[in-house]
Parts: sequence; C-alpha cells; structure tokens
Amino acid sequence: MLRCIKTAAQIIKDGGLVAFPTETVYGLGADAFNPDAVGSVYAAKGRPKDNPLIVHVASPDGFRELCADIPAYAEALVGKFWPGPLTLVAKKKSGLPAWLGGHPGGSCETVAVRMPSHPIALELIKESGRHISAPSANRSGRPSPTFHAHVAEDFPAAEAMGIAIFEGGHSSVGLESTVVDATGGRPAVLRPGMVTEEEILAATGLACESLPPGAGSGKSPGTMHRHYAPKAPLTLLVGDTASVAEYLSEAVADGTGALISQAVFEKLSVKARALGRIIVAPSESAAFARNLYSNLRAFDSLPVDAIFAEPKPGGMGLAIMDRLHRAAEGRVLIV
Ligand code: TXA
Ligand code: MG
Repeated sequence: MLRCIKTAAQIIKDGGLVAFPTETVYGLGADAFNPDAVGSVYAAKGRPKDNPLIVHVASPDGFRELCADIPAYAEALVGKFWPGPLTLVAKKKSGLPAWLGGHPGGSCETVAVRMPSHPIALELIKESGRHISAPSANRSGRPSPTFHAHVAEDFPAAEAMGIAIFEGGHSSVGLESTVVDATGGRPAVLRPGMVTEEEILAATGLACESLPPGAGSGKSPGTMHRHYAPKAPLTLLVGDTASVAEYLSEAVADGTGALISQAVFEKLSVKARALGRIIVAPSESAAFARNLYSNLRAFDSLPVDAIFAEPKPGGMGLAIMDRLHRAAEGRVLIV
C-alpha cells in the first residue's frame, strides 16, 4: 500500500488509478481528463456505463472551470460546505470533452463536482495538478470502503489491475457526500448525506425542490442500482424497541446476523443472544453512520445467511435510511 502523496500523484499523472481516502469514503481516482484512465475505473469497478462520476477538485475555482451558469445558491453552498461532504451537479462548460464526468464512450451535459476536506485527498489533487474523477472505491453493489483494508478486500488483485491503494486510515463521515442538483431554480437533493436539506435551506434561503419518489434516481443514475449490500440478504426491522426485541428473540437462529441498538440487545432472549451474530451499533447518529459500512462488511466474515438491521432516526437519519433501504433491496419488516 502507498503512503507517499508524491508517488500517488505521479501515478495519477501517468494515467494510473489510485484508491485514496476522503472524509466520506475512499475514492478510486483517475485523471478526469484522461479517457483511458477513466475507462479503467469503470472496468475495475464493474460500474454501469450510464452512471457518471464525481470530479474532485482542490479549490472552488476547479468547479468554476468545469461548470457554466452556476446559480448563486450553488456558490452559497460552496462557501458554506466546501471543502466537505457536498457534491454539486451543474451544467458543463462548453468546449470541454463531451464525455467528461461520465464514461469515455458516452456524453453528459452536466458534471458533478466536489472539493473534499480530507488532507490526503486535497494534497493528492494539488500535487497531481489534475482534477480527479473518482467513484467510491468498492466493487459495484458493495458497501463503500471507509478504511484502506476495505479497498483491498474488494480488489484482492489490485496490484495486477494497476490500482495503487493509499493507506489513509478511517474516513470520518463514513457515508457518501450529499449530491445536490444545481441546474434548476432551487437546489434538489439527489442523494442524501451529512449535509441536510435543513442546512441547505439555512445556507441559501431556499427550500430544496422536493423530487417525487424515485425522481432522484432518474437524475442521478447511481442511486438506481443495488448498492451497499453485504453478502447475506439484509432485512430492515421497523418497530419500537420492545417489538424489535420480541421479534428477534424468536427469529434469531444459528446463522442469523443482527445490527441493533444497545436497547434492543438488552431485551433479547438468552437464546437469541447465544445464537445470533450480533453487532451493537452506536446510538448517536454520526457514529452510527461512520461505522455503518464497516459493520455491514463485518457480517461478510461471519457465518451468517440472513441479517436483520434496525434503522436509525436522528441527525443523519435520512442518509442512513437511504443506504439501509438500498442494502435491504426492499426487504422491510414492520413489527
Ligand atoms: O462522498 C462521495 O461522494 C464519494 C467520494 C469518493 O467522493 N464518491 C462517491 O461516488 O460516492 P459514487 O460514484 O459512488 O457516487 C456518485 C453519485 C452517483 O449516484 C452518481 O450517479 C451521481 O453521484 N452523479 C455523478 N455525476 C452526476 C451527474 N452529472 N448528474 C447527476 N448525478 C451524478
Ligand atoms: Mg458508490
């Protein structure tokens, strides 16, 4: 694994791929203007070609360089949340390659841009002198990596595939950035994240456009695909503490995994505690989010054939629920 930013930057300049830490999740980065390198990112991930990438920039000027007709509210969001876990989708400037921001075989009129706050990510972009296109550094469909070892888990043949992994420790946010469409008269959240609609309203004075259910998926193709899933099927258990504990006390058998709160754990039957592979999730929502993907990945190395997870309301509740719902692929049990 890599520890030197200069070496990593040289790999990007030479058209190679570097998995690098950001405050949200690890990204699998390539020079955004190099079609061969960007094509390799799609191939390595097994990413559908209709799903565009986020271009990572080292300063707000990078955004202005790539995008045209940037609305005042988007500038307000840049001022408030950059560097940080917020991605802005805006109209692409004319004169730029038609494919830029997406698969080199296609074309897109908009481009998604983010300035990350992680010092290694920022240094890497600066040192390489390139904008870096990077999706999350997981194989398509898997939980995003929040630790360098997760990237190695998803890409055991990284070296042979020409992927260098930067050893950058744990991501502090743990969920992907909030993606905001800034092509309309008001902001629209395409993917919820740590930056909430309330904070966007406070920063811009504009209520977010409310997209009808599923519309976010149409505008942001990545939100349509199965995502974030551990290997065993996951079911969301919705109910109060007593009902969830009662249900699990009966349902948990050998080979059942459960991601639950301390409150539910304390009410579980002795049988369920003994047989289940139980992970107690943090009660505070930022910590729940930070640990969510490593907890989901932890089930992969346990002998489980079914997983139950208790949802988590609160501060980052919308973003957490979005990821859990997609990891569950529609399996929700109301108890
Ligand atoms: O926190 C993050 O956003 C991480 C780190 C590495 O920056 N990146 C990330 O990338 O989550 P990815 O590729 O896994 O998700 C990017 C999301 C997808 O849902 C994609 O469809 C959407 O952003 N997206 C990218 N370009 C877009 C565009 N031009 N219009 C609408 N949605 C876009
Ligand atoms: Mg992803």
